[in-house]
Amino acid sequence: MLTLNDINKIYRTKTIETCALNNVNLHVEKGEFLSIMGPSGCGKSTLLNIMGLLDRPTSGTVTVNGEDVTGLGDRELARFRNRTFGFVFQSFQLINTLSVLDNVTLPLLYRSNPGNIEQLAREALEKVGLSHRMTHKPTQLSGGQAQRVAIARAIVGNPAIILADEPCGNLDSRMGSEIMELLHELNTSDGRTIVMVTHNESQAKETDRIVHFFDGQQVTL
Ligand SMILES: Nc1ncnc2c1ncn2[C@@H]1O[C@H](COP(=O)(O)OP(=O)(O)OP(=O)(O)O)[C@@H](O)[C@H]1O
Ligand SMILES: [Mg+2]
Repeated sequence: MLTLNDINKIYRTKTIETCALNNVNLHVEKGEFLSIMGPSGCGKSTLLNIMGLLDRPTSGTVTVNGEDVTGLGDRELARFRNRTFGFVFQSFQLINTLSVLDNVTLPLLYRSNPGNIEQLAREALEKVGLSHRMTHKPTQLSGGQAQRVAIARAIVGNPAIILADEPCGNLDSRMGSEIMELLHELNTSDGRTIVMVTHNESQAKETDRIVHFFDGQQVTL
């Protein structure tokens, strides 16, 4: 479904070069729930950003469903990303001035044929159990609820792949378990492929496979 081939990522500033990813090769199967673990600074977020086409590698290619998407121009890349990926971040990244419902409709506004935006957003919120909070603002929610809104926003456009960067990182263990339950449901019932970065070993062990990183490289423990 998703393959990274010989990916290198070097961040360059005037004075310093940081090699964030060093020759990474990784294949994610359709329907797989994969965890990525490793110490802070080892390149996990960089990897997820490159997988989700939010950032381009310095060298190497990203293949999605057999198609090399590395060469796409910015507009096509954005369109492809919007249709293929849903993103969930540790800090939720919701827009505080918009209602819960309006936050969830956002990814659909970028589409030329979005369908019934409000209906789709309501369905996504129902799926995450937040139908009763649609008119709230994100600041009026608990952390777990805010993350569920972010998950609703990630799935509203029906993406095949969900990329989650420490989705439970800012939550207590009970809320973290709720979010994990929801991710497992999206994986098993809806057949979505999920790649999750986590520092939590027991959450990682619940998933199909764990890939460990150290210093920008995949390692076998
Ligand atoms: N925009 C940037 N410019 C320069 N260096 C960067 C940039 N983004 C990340 N880096 C560097 O690349 C390396 C990998 O960063 P990354 O954010 O991918 O780590 P991470 O594994 O996600 O860490 P954490 O667990 O703390 O989130 C780090 O050494 C970081 O300092
Ligand atoms: Mg990170």
